[in-house]
Amino acid sequence: MTVWSNDQITHGRTIGIVPTMGFFHEGHLSLMRLAKARSDVVVVSLFVNPIQFGPGEDLDRYPRDFERDITLATGEGVDVVFAPETAAMYPEPILTTVHVGNLTDTLCGKSRPGHFDGVATVVAKIFNIVKPHLAVFGEKDFQQLAVIKRLVNDLNWDIEIIAHPIVRESDGLAMSSRNSYLSVDERNTALCLSKAIRYARSRVREGFRDADVLIEEIGRLLREHAGVTVEYVQVVDGQSLHDQQVIDNGSVLAIAVRLGRTRLIDNTILLQGD
Ligand code: PAF
Repeated sequence: MTVWSNDQITHGRTIGIVPTMGFFHEGHLSLMRLAKARSDVVVVSLFVNPIQFGPGEDLDRYPRDFERDITLATGEGVDVVFAPETAAMYPEPILTTVHVGNLTDTLCGKSRPGHFDGVATVVAKIFNIVKPHLAVFGEKDFQQLAVIKRLVNDLNWDIEIIAHPIVRESDGLAMSSRNSYLSVDERNTALCLSKAIRYARSRVREGFRDADVLIEEIGRLLREHAGVTVEYVQVVDGQSLHDQQVIDNGSVLAIAVRLGRTRLIDNTILLQGD
């Protein structure tokens, strides 16, 4: 992979990367299109990274369809799908990991200890192997995006991190490979996340600014749905990820719930021009 990248760089071409764990949906394809529009050549990495899954999480059942992914990526004009074997990425137990402090102590970091170390470590490895000039990540994993921006900044990597807005199904459900776990009934119930987000945005549009009350209201809305266990509802500053009491231009509402065996997340910038 690095030999190919060195050749592109020698020829003066810019490399864009979309890091993924595969099982592509329209969200991934949108990231690929954005990477294509912003760079000369595009690499998609496809690697279900074992070290970002905790014990009892869904590593073994994470959805995979390599052939379909290759067809979809090729259809988007992706130049290379970098899909290393686990043994190639981790030939021996890894002794060096990357930890981004502070940003990883909140939100998903609380219930998924070690998750963001796994993400930061594999992204660092992928960046070093592929040598991209830019990388595109989805805002759906908004904490991951903040962590990676900080990682690149702290380590002085000359890589532009580009955020792509959340891509939603026509009924509002944020696209995710994990949506494939949902039964028909659960899929229906899962709409409570995007409904809660729409509700929060309408409250804020009306001038409401009390984060604690909004959190309380959103929690109540979500809990009305049978089968939903709320993991967190937080209003945080989009950069520092610190909890906020008063909603302002930088505020993000972030939600995580469990629905059956599936963990779902969603988020929104509360004060956006809509
Ligand atoms: O967002 C994902 O799919 C993964 O966390 C990533 C960034 C590809 C790292 O494994």
